[in-house]
Amino acid sequence: MACVWRLNLTLIASIFIVCALEKISGQISYPIPEEMEEGSFVGNIAQDLGVNARQLATRKCRLSSDDGGRYMKVSLDNGVLSIRERIDRERLCGQTDMCTMPFEIILENPLEVLHGELVILDVNDNSPTFRENSIRLQISEAIPSGVRFRLERAADPDIGINTVVDYAISSSEYFSLKSRRTEAGTVIAELLLEKSLDRELQSSFQLVLTAMDGGTPQRSGTAQIFINVMDINDNPPVFENDVYRISIRENTPRGTLVLKVKANDLDEGLNAQLTYSFSGLASQIMHGVFSLIPETGEVIIEGPLDFEETNSYSLDIEAVDHGSPAITGHSNVQIKVIDVNDNAPEIKVTSLTNQIPENAPPGTFITLINVIDRDSGENGQVRCEIQKNIPFMLQASSTHYKMVTQERLDRETVSEYKIFVSASDLGSPSLSTNTIIHIVVTDVNDNAPRFSELSYNVYVAENNAPGASIFTVSASDPDLGQNSSVSYSILDDHFQNLPVSTYLSVNARNGTLYALRTFDYEEFKTFQIHVEARDAGVPSMSSSATVHVIILDQNDNAPVIISHSAESGSAAAEIIPQSAGQGYFVTKITATDADSGQNARLFYQMVKATDPNLFMIGQTSGEIRTTRKILEADLTRQTLLILVKDNGLPELSSTVTVHIAILQNSTETLAESINSVNTSENVSDLNLYLLVIFSCTTIVFLLIIILLIGIKCKRDRNNTQDYTSPSYCYRRGDMQDTCNRRSAMEETLRYPGTEQLVRMPGLPQYSVRLSPESAKSDFLFLKPCGLSSSQAQS
Ligand SMILES: *[C@@H]1O[C@H](CO)[C@@H](O)[C@H](O)[C@H]1NC(C)=O
Ligand SMILES: *[C@@H]1O[C@H](CO)[C@@H](O)[C@H](O)[C@H]1NC(C)=O
Repeated sequence: MACVWRLNLTLIASIFIVCALEKISGQISYPIPEEMEEGSFVGNIAQDLGVNARQLATRKCRLSSDDGGRYMKVSLDNGVLSIRERIDRERLCGQTDMCTMPFEIILENPLEVLHGELVILDVNDNSPTFRENSIRLQISEAIPSGVRFRLERAADPDIGINTVVDYAISSSEYFSLKSRRTEAGTVIAELLLEKSLDRELQSSFQLVLTAMDGGTPQRSGTAQIFINVMDINDNPPVFENDVYRISIRENTPRGTLVLKVKANDLDEGLNAQLTYSFSGLASQIMHGVFSLIPETGEVIIEGPLDFEETNSYSLDIEAVDHGSPAITGHSNVQIKVIDVNDNAPEIKVTSLTNQIPENAPPGTFITLINVIDRDSGENGQVRCEIQKNIPFMLQASSTHYKMVTQERLDRETVSEYKIFVSASDLGSPSLSTNTIIHIVVTDVNDNAPRFSELSYNVYVAENNAPGASIFTVSASDPDLGQNSSVSYSILDDHFQNLPVSTYLSVNARNGTLYALRTFDYEEFKTFQIHVEARDAGVPSMSSSATVHVIILDQNDNAPVIISHSAESGSAAAEIIPQSAGQGYFVTKITATDADSGQNARLFYQMVKATDPNLFMIGQTSGEIRTTRKILEADLTRQTLLILVKDNGLPELSSTVTVHIAILQNSTETLAESINSVNTSENVSDLNLYLLVIFSCTTIVFLLIIILLIGIKCKRDRNNTQDYTSPSYCYRRGDMQDTCNRRSAMEETLRYPGTEQLVRMPGLPQYSVRLSPESAKSDFLFLKPCGLSSSQAQS
């Protein structure tokens, strides 16, 4: 603009030179402030030139200027010079101090050229401005106080006082502003560091810079100053904890992250970038146990931990920043290893006595048991146990357990023990160890041989062969070896004035009994011996059993006829009257048999008769009676052959001949009969005599019977045997009473209330069936001894 203006000026000047040829008048100067409104009054040319205002129009007054009349105009009516367009001094003249705008007033008739100039005065119409709204500064925190930083100037196109005269900043304890005028006259601003910076305290500042001019009214412009404090490595890394304390279980696996250490560095960037490591001795000791990851500070288990070896670690650690020079921070890690129950107890068995005699008293020492657990605390406390229900127990002392017997042992019950020793610690979960102790119980001769039965009944048929074995007793001994080896013997005793050893012998080795003689049932029916069994222990032990030898009857005795044969040899005579009717009792044949039982059961039979139809005999009673009336025609002498046989096998028998005379006349008969047989006096004397005896005996015997029945009943109830029974009389059917002394042992066979099958050794299979009925029948007709039924009848 200035250049254009100058160009115009040159043009104007040349015109001015042409005009000046006419008339050169005085110079008129009009000072005006810039920025005046359009139409503002500048001056009155007519007045100032001394020209009549009315002449102006006629004289064709013109305004000529470099700008071609852009800014000014002149009124031809009154000669007033006024502003046509606002004038900006800064635009026209820039920073030039004097800003003038020359113009000419040209009048004709006569030509007159008047020179004037417009002096444009500066008005403070511009504010100071900064090139940028914000100013950025980087200041290291290391810069000491007092240092100045020059700031960019603010621009103000106004001149003089209206341009920038001073600067100011917002208040700050760190910064102040110093402004000074340079030689060139410009005012510059400098930032003064009042106090050294600490980035860690405040890393940035924001200030407002104000530039002020000196105009009135004063104008100002602002800019933001952003100050960034640059870090220097002036802070050490600081760990979050002085000491890190952690506890880890000893069984924590490798690779486990146990701790993360962290240090803080107030600096930034590399100055705050840290590397962690073990420091000092720790770096060597910890090698292989823990590792520290340099970048992250993570502590990781590297190797196996063993509480029992090392129960705590103290690690020095450091953190180094990457500043230069680097600064190091230190800390310490205390690692406590917690015991884990990782060791099972160990059992040590010492001074073990494997063999223990069964008679060892309670409390006998067996073994010492030591239990060790390498863990500590509860994990290392061990409880030791053995199973229950065995006669052993553990006695605990401070360092070990003592195993002793708790009660007496019995090899015969348990000969060997497997003792399970279990040791378990109190950790959770608990660990345990087991071991087995074998204990052998050795034998002591503490058991006597024992017979299979307390008493034996041995049945031997009479007439046995001497030397034959009759029975075997056996005893057993639960002890071992010699202590259980049994030998048999017969204890000294006497039977019928002879040592029992003459009756029986025993095989010492196997207990087989041998009869040494032939037994006769009719001689004795039973005897007993005592057999002893003795073991070979030292000292030996023995026991005994009773052997009842029961002789079994054999049919070795024939019936003996006692009623008739005694008087007249093999023949007997009877007399009957002819008047005797049918069923007349003639006589009774009486016989005995030394055998017993069936062998003594007798049957009567008529094998031959003169007249077989006249007489009959009761098969069991032996009574001979007439079968019909006796006739005249019958022979007076009759002969009968009677056979008596027993029920044995083979059966044995005897015969008797009975002569019967039939009397025609009773008196005759009586006399005859007295002559031939007996006198009636004798008979009556005898009858009287017998009657007296009979009465006495009956009374006595009835008393005995009552007594015996009483005893018998009592015995029955007690189920016991009466070995001392008196003589009994048995009456079987209609037979004459038979006096029979029965042995106690035979009574056993007939024991009422039992029914048993008895196998009798040495006999052909022969069974006796004993029933309560048969037993009852034996007692049914119990009668006094020595009393015949015929006498009883008469
Ligand atoms: C038998 O018992 C004795 C002690 O009474 C004992 O010394 C011996 O060893 C035992 N014999 C056997 C074979 O066990
Ligand atoms: C017992 O020993 C004898 C002689 O050695 C023998 O004859 C008999 O048969 C034995 N008895 C038994 C029951 O073995």
